[in-house]
Amino acid sequence: MASRELFSSKMGFVMAAAGSAVGLGNIWGFPTNTASNGGAAFVLVYLVLAFCLAYPALMAELVIGRASRANIVTSLRDIAGERGIPWAGILIGGYGVIIASLIYSFYSIVAGWMVAHWAESLTTMAGQSQWSEWLVAFGLKRNIIFTAIFMGLTMAIISRGVSAGIERWSTRLMPVMMLLLVVLIIYVLTQNGASEGLKLYLIPHFSDLKPQVFLSAMGQAFFSLSLGVGTMLIYGSYLSDKENLPQIGAIVTLTDTGIAFIAGLLILPAIYVAKEYGTNVFTDGGELIAGPDLIFQVLPALFGSMGTAGTLVAFAFFTLMTIAALTSSISMLEVPVSLATENTKIGRGMATLIIGSLIFLISVGICLNFGALFGWVINFTTVYSEPVLGILLCVFVGWLWHRNKVLNALKPGMDNAEQSLFFKIWPMYVRFVCPLLILATFIQSLR
Ligand code: TRP
Repeated sequence: MASRELFSSKMGFVMAAAGSAVGLGNIWGFPTNTASNGGAAFVLVYLVLAFCLAYPALMAELVIGRASRANIVTSLRDIAGERGIPWAGILIGGYGVIIASLIYSFYSIVAGWMVAHWAESLTTMAGQSQWSEWLVAFGLKRNIIFTAIFMGLTMAIISRGVSAGIERWSTRLMPVMMLLLVVLIIYVLTQNGASEGLKLYLIPHFSDLKPQVFLSAMGQAFFSLSLGVGTMLIYGSYLSDKENLPQIGAIVTLTDTGIAFIAGLLILPAIYVAKEYGTNVFTDGGELIAGPDLIFQVLPALFGSMGTAGTLVAFAFFTLMTIAALTSSISMLEVPVSLATENTKIGRGMATLIIGSLIFLISVGICLNFGALFGWVINFTTVYSEPVLGILLCVFVGWLWHRNKVLNALKPGMDNAEQSLFFKIWPMYVRFVCPLLILATFIQSLR
């Protein structure tokens, strides 16, 4: 494997990894989780979990990936193989690849809705109201067509490979996304009602901190950093030996949590601006609307009541959501595609086409049985499987690797690795603390 592709620069890696991490989870999941779980109290819990649990787990993936320079299945097989149990690595890696593929399958459906709403802002500008109605109505045909369009976009990028595909498009799209986010925040904060949303977001209500909050915060943190399924592992495997791993992992974590936090400054004020405009923003039970209805009912109603400006804002908003989803879903698709290209003779283009099409069929299955499958797949993959896989990856680094191996994996790009605080704490931390904390979070939420 002499010619394994790498990211061409540190910036390229950061854009790609942050592009993976920053997605619908940040712009939609994080703000709404915050709103329904006690405002700033949730933000505090989230920040603690992100840095004390998710960052160390992210490091486990980056370290394994860069040291083994292979996909998750091959990496874990080799590590477990040295202990005489290669099958354990293959099983766990395979589980990760399946979960990554399932996440890609539901995420693309949601992303397809974003593309449909984006298209609707165009048909509205063009005065084609019959098209607009079809685009925003929940229909099987529309869902399947737009899932296909979105998956086609991700497949086009992934088939071009690491530097010409993933890196180039992440580097182009991420700055556009951040600019749109800032512009939208400035606009929304000048509207009536915005401050009420800001208050809810920034003032903690500790009495709302139920045990479930910790599980939601952990799930949110793992999902947001794209952990557990080999996404960060494969991106780490494309990272040059010149880079300092703990530092680059910290940059990615900070960017991800930073953008999630900033997105809250857009979404929660927007909800209360919508309320000012007369949109109903509460469920019958009196809680803030947080699920799909928020993005596809409340916000569009707000855009609709803003007149011409509203159409432009809708265009900007759904462009933002589509870009965020795109740079994330390419990283999901890369997991099975890298497995196929590294272990068979199939070329990247063909592998992308075959695997993308197969996962598209899963998405169609979910669309056909939406009520039964959609929520179930999301829960199974993100709430349960990602943290479980996160524990297992920590166990791989903490228990199956010798200290020397860990040190050798850190040394490239980090001259003082052996004396560093990181090396003094982290190996023990992923060995004991991370698995126990993740388990504890699970157990306390079961009670
Ligand atoms: N982190 C992304 C988000 O917040 C989603 C994502 C990308 C992801 N790759 C992943 C989630 C891998 C889980 C696993 O939207």
